[in-house]
Amino acid sequence: MDEFLVAKNLRKDFGNVEAVKSISFHVNSGEIYGFLGPNGAGKTTTLRMVTGVLKPTEGKVNIHGMDVFENSIDVKSIIGVVPDEPKLYDNLTGHEFLEFVGSVFSMKRDELNRRVLELSEAFDVDFFNKFIGDYSHGMKQKLMLISVLMRKPKVLFMDEPTVGLDAKSAKILKLLLRKYVNEGAAVFMTTHILEIAEKMCDRIGIINEGELIAEGNLKELRNYSGKESLEDIFLKLTGGDEVKEIVDKL
Ligand SMILES: Nc1ncnc2c1ncn2[C@@H]1O[C@H](COP(=O)(O)OP(=O)(O)O)[C@@H](O)[C@H]1O
Ligand SMILES: [Mg+2]
Repeated sequence: MDEFLVAKNLRKDFGNVEAVKSISFHVNSGEIYGFLGPNGAGKTTTLRMVTGVLKPTEGKVNIHGMDVFENSIDVKSIIGVVPDEPKLYDNLTGHEFLEFVGSVFSMKRDELNRRVLELSEAFDVDFFNKFIGDYSHGMKQKLMLISVLMRKPKVLFMDEPTVGLDAKSAKILKLLLRKYVNEGAAVFMTTHILEIAEKMCDRIGIINEGELIAEGNLKELRNYSGKESLEDIFLKLTGGDEVKEIVDKL
């Protein structure tokens, strides 16, 4: 199996906050890897490090055989990143933004048009003539998703991709990602929602307080913790047994 993403001993300190504490993992071609953890666990920080946006305090990241920080231009040409809060140009229309991205990545015009049309239909988008400044969070997210998916990058990174998507779009995204990995791509996504990890991902890494505390497919995670549902596993591993107590007391 091809390891498309290898992260070794990644650590990030923000002042005296240890946001990520020496995490190692890999993602293979053909696989959707889910990074699951509660708010503040270190998911976004890890995603920013593995995509070359944030310099780790320590550790190495390799994508498709290239060091992310030493070969950042080459790496950027084969990855696609959908951040949790897309930063977009308010005074461009959606179409203008997609054309801009297409030209940066040297996409052929007819291919760009074809892919945008297919993806717009899939995600029910009819607002690309409007200015991005007037988009809701969900609309921006769809634009960002389409701008990444249209390029068919080898490695796709998504930070909480289903937040802000309606149920139908989330389902389409799930099917599309499966199709892309079947064609050989690799996906790294973060989520704080158990059900999403359970339904979309082949392997799951559970991150809590900056540490990767368990990793595997659902079956392996179940064996690991000796519990049945992923919810029980997740709550047990992240100390969420307290959650039940709190709710019981309310
Ligand atoms: N730029 C930053 N400066 C200082 N602290 C940060 C910064 N980014 C994240 N953190 C802290 O790092 C920890 C992990 O944050 P984050 O990776 O965003 O978590 P998650 O995405 O899992 O919710 C949190 O305690 C957060 O407050
Ligand atoms: Mg986050």
